[in-house]
Amino acid sequence: MTAVGDLDIEAFRAAAHRAADWIADYLKDIEERPVLPRVVPGDVRRALPEHPPRDGEPLDAILDDFESLLVPATTQWNSPGFMAYFASSGSAPGILGELLAAGLNANAMLWRTGPAQTELEQVALDWLRQILGLPEPLFGVINDTASSSTLYALAAARDAAGDAAAERGGVNALPPMRIYASAEAHSSVAKATMVLGLGRDGLRAIPVDAELRMDPAALEDAIAEDTAAGLRPCAVVATAGTTSTTSVDPIPAVADVCARRGLWLHVDAAYAGAAAAAPEYRWVLDGAERADSIVVNPHKWLFTPMDCSVLWTGRPLALRSAFSLVPEYLRTAEAANPDAIDLMDYGVSLGRRFRALKLWMVLRAFGSDGIASRVREHCRFAELLSQWVRGSPDFELLAPAPLSVVCLRAHPAGVDGDAELDALNESIVDRVNSSGRFFISHTRVRGVYAIRVAFGNLRATEAHVHGIWNSLRNSLSARKAM
Ligand SMILES: Cc1ncc(COP(=O)(O)O)c(C=O)c1O
Repeated sequence: MTAVGDLDIEAFRAAAHRAADWIADYLKDIEERPVLPRVVPGDVRRALPEHPPRDGEPLDAILDDFESLLVPATTQWNSPGFMAYFASSGSAPGILGELLAAGLNANAMLWRTGPAQTELEQVALDWLRQILGLPEPLFGVINDTASSSTLYALAAARDAAGDAAAERGGVNALPPMRIYASAEAHSSVAKATMVLGLGRDGLRAIPVDAELRMDPAALEDAIAEDTAAGLRPCAVVATAGTTSTTSVDPIPAVADVCARRGLWLHVDAAYAGAAAAAPEYRWVLDGAERADSIVVNPHKWLFTPMDCSVLWTGRPLALRSAFSLVPEYLRTAEAANPDAIDLMDYGVSLGRRFRALKLWMVLRAFGSDGIASRVREHCRFAELLSQWVRGSPDFELLAPAPLSVVCLRAHPAGVDGDAELDALNESIVDRVNSSGRFFISHTRVRGVYAIRVAFGNLRATEAHVHGIWNSLRNSLSARKAM
């Protein structure tokens, strides 16, 4: 190995082959590993040297430690037994896209610093727009997460609702601003509101109906009340697929309110946007064509490895004006050319990874029908589990399951107190998770502890649906026997 410069290229070739073989075997045998690793906090740190090596180590030794120390302490998101939160499965084309992007290491902050990267991002996002049935024209940009995408959209909304005084004085120069989202909206909306300087009171939670969807009449009343009180409403976030139960807000009615009040509409379809790839689930984005911005996360249900979040907007100039600040050293002659987009102008980060490659490779390798058929299958799994729950005397559904997530609880005869039921269901989740075969998470639906089973893993089959149902029932039986 050379003492300066990069590693020996042949050593890299051999290690890359070894890594590729390892990934292929890992994916093939993924179910041999416990989904939740059997480690306690501190185990990994204790297993690793406290100090860095003084002399460089061979790649083989590093890969050995990756395999023996890090992989066993990894939660296996790629496993079909992973049914917690929302799925995120790395597919073969997505993994290859990550690898090749790291190989190129292009940083497309400006068109000039990554022409292929900049233009592929526009192409891939236009393809995805078509797959999800969204109308033209939409300008898209890839961010790391939906939390960033929503923050950027709401920054644009805040600035669009400001005036000349706010340009220099920021929010301090304006009456207090308000953003509206349903009580079921993701915490990233509240976080964005805090980061934007609107404070925790800057977000007003709107009540939901019996199916946990935003109540548009309550939204309109809240906006009227705030306006009369001298506040300045600036945006509404409608969720297509809430985190707890995947409820879908009535976007057309929310869009009507936004149009009447002149407010920015942001649609958080981080999870459920993917469902629109299947024509029979396209309804999840009904009304989103009227939104000012939309976020969809391919790293959730579109088989693209972490991280990849798409933000579309029909108002790119508003997004650009919220973020564009070009120092001298980043000025280029081609900036005036509308085909030479400088992606640094549409968010906080200057530098950016080549995330479009993995998304483009996923879209090509699956095709729109391939994506639709997976999404359809995952929704079928949820329907199957829902049917079994409905038919069981010991379990009940706690919310509608319109897509690929089921919220349920055990409710056997004779157990009725809220606290008792919560404790019973918590113990079932713990028992299922300790098996190593499955990892499920929980939520609260109207204050009640709910077991939450989320399908969406690329490798899941109907056998896994039977598996989790048996595991839930066996866990209840074991608990009854205690
Ligand atoms: C509806 C919704 N929006 C936003 C997010 C935040 O996603 P990210 O982790 O990409 O920030 C989540 C996370 O699960 C979500 O469910």
